[in-house]
Amino acid sequence: MISKEKKVRSVWVLGGTSKVARSICIELAKKGCEKFFLISRNKVKSNKFSSFLRLEYNVVVEEKYFDLEKFYDSDQEIFYRVSDFDLYIISSGYLGNNDLAKQNFNEAKRIIDINFTSIIPWINAITTKERIDKRMGLWVFTSVAADRGRPSNYFYGAAKSALEVYSEGLMYRCYKKRFSVRIIKAGYMYSPMTYGKAPKILCINTSRVARLLLKNPFKRGIEYMPWFWNPIMSIVKILPNKIISKL
Ligand SMILES: NC(=O)c1ccc[n+]([C@@H]2O[C@H](COP(=O)([O-])OP(=O)(O)OC[C@H]3O[C@@H](n4cnc5c(N)ncnc54)[C@H](OP(=O)(O)O)[C@@H]3O)[C@@H](O)[C@H]2O)c1
Repeated sequence: MISKEKKVRSVWVLGGTSKVARSICIELAKKGCEKFFLISRNKVKSNKFSSFLRLEYNVVVEEKYFDLEKFYDSDQEIFYRVSDFDLYIISSGYLGNNDLAKQNFNEAKRIIDINFTSIIPWINAITTKERIDKRMGLWVFTSVAADRGRPSNYFYGAAKSALEVYSEGLMYRCYKKRFSVRIIKAGYMYSPMTYGKAPKILCINTSRVARLLLKNPFKRGIEYMPWFWNPIMSIVKILPNKIISKL
């Protein structure tokens, strides 16, 4: 068992510019985390956030730039090399345009790659045989959309579902190891991904999500975030096909 007391002193993030990742990093910095490694595609956005972290909290921040739409075949091992951190977070994601994806394979592929295929080399690089014997944690953000296919978002839902099943297998691989794998099935959060698209009553602030998750950084398992998505999705899973076909 990993003790609840272990502090997160260093964090590695894929999707460093995501709203929820930024909230988590700020909360971590407040709690004494000293070292940040942020991977993202938007250099300007990443630089701005890194400067803020350095100035406000006097921490060390390294950045790397990476577009999840692209594959880096040559020197794979060098490109995807990952060093030791207390906590690894996968928070990148792309909702995409479901209607466009029905006709345009580029959009369909973009949704699948950003949410699943392109993340795999990174998680593989993190979860080496040697590292899973160490006291470290991995958080993977999936979505309630992965629970049941719906006409309005089934490309995104399918990609997140693939990520979830992959992460679940990994979680069981690490079950008796010191390395913890935590799968976060997020519901609606206020972020650029959902601005104007999600019902406000169901939306939660990312800083609240960060605080909730950091109550126990090395928790393992699959959890809904926040908790009320558990009962909601239990109902959604048993809704008759006639109703689901309209969602
Ligand atoms: N917001 C919600 O309601 C909600 C619900 C369920 C699950 N989730 C999941 O929660 C996680 C965090 O999302 P969020 O709410 O914080 O949304 P967000 O702020 O829109 O973050 C999405 C992140 O993915 C990155 N990204 C998108 N396409 C990319 C690409 N081609 N290459 C590299 N990075 C790319 C974005 O980079 P840029 O900054 O460069 O755009 C951004 O860092 C995601 O996995 C999301 O799928 C969110």
